[in-house]
Amino acid sequence: MKQQGEKIACLTSYDASFTQVLESAGVDMFIVGDSLGMVLMGYTTTTPVTMNDMVHHAANVARVGQHAWRVVDFPYQSYATPEQALVNARRLIEEGGAHMVKLEGGTEMTGIVEYLASHDIPVCGHIGLLPQSIAKYGGYHVQGRDEAAASAILEDARAIEAAGAGMLVMECIPATLAAQVTGSAAIPTIGIGAGPDCDGQVLVLYDMLGITPGKLPRFVKNFLQEQGSIAAAIAAYVEAVKDGSYPAAEHCY
Ligand code: KIV
Repeated sequence: MKQQGEKIACLTSYDASFTQVLESAGVDMFIVGDSLGMVLMGYTTTTPVTMNDMVHHAANVARVGQHAWRVVDFPYQSYATPEQALVNARRLIEEGGAHMVKLEGGTEMTGIVEYLASHDIPVCGHIGLLPQSIAKYGGYHVQGRDEAAASAILEDARAIEAAGAGMLVMECIPATLAAQVTGSAAIPTIGIGAGPDCDGQVLVLYDMLGITPGKLPRFVKNFLQEQGSIAAAIAAYVEAVKDGSYPAAEHCY
């Protein structure tokens, strides 16, 4: 799709019913994200989520999923060593039905990515804002704003791709920086709060349906409020990603 210039429409999914609605509406890819800890389980961060939680929800999605590519998150501290990452990747794939596993981090993660890739595990990187490191940042802030931070993110992207990752999620970074990464990467980039020039877009399903309580980041658009049903809201999201109308300027940094 990257080579053909077709935008990749992605959403999080955590259960069988939504997976069927999302696939019928034309979603290309699911991320079974550890955001499930916040939107399904009521935690204030993603860090309490366990491997058993991820396997359980990934399997819910895989049981009914037919066409869409399924990326499943490694939870917090489940990929601290290459050996631990391999054991847990096998669980996400064999028990959870993942097509690809996702881990957070940049240059510091290249050893883990290389080890997984050399064992034929498809890996998706995740750079920019890293929710599993939220305690380190002291909040959900845009990353890569100044020159040094932007260069570090460019280097993270290059290093993760060179280590063997097949895809890259970029979270909460300036649109111009995400465009630069996308232009220089051979692998597809999926943005969340990273502007319109990524190869694809992802949102947390409950955020774009307006279910998540509280103030949401500026990149989130509520697609349900202008539509009559969840199915129509998802279809509108897919169409907006494909035609490039989402994210619009007001959703970008
Ligand atoms: O956990 C999550 O939902 C994510 C998003 C980037 C989709 O990682």
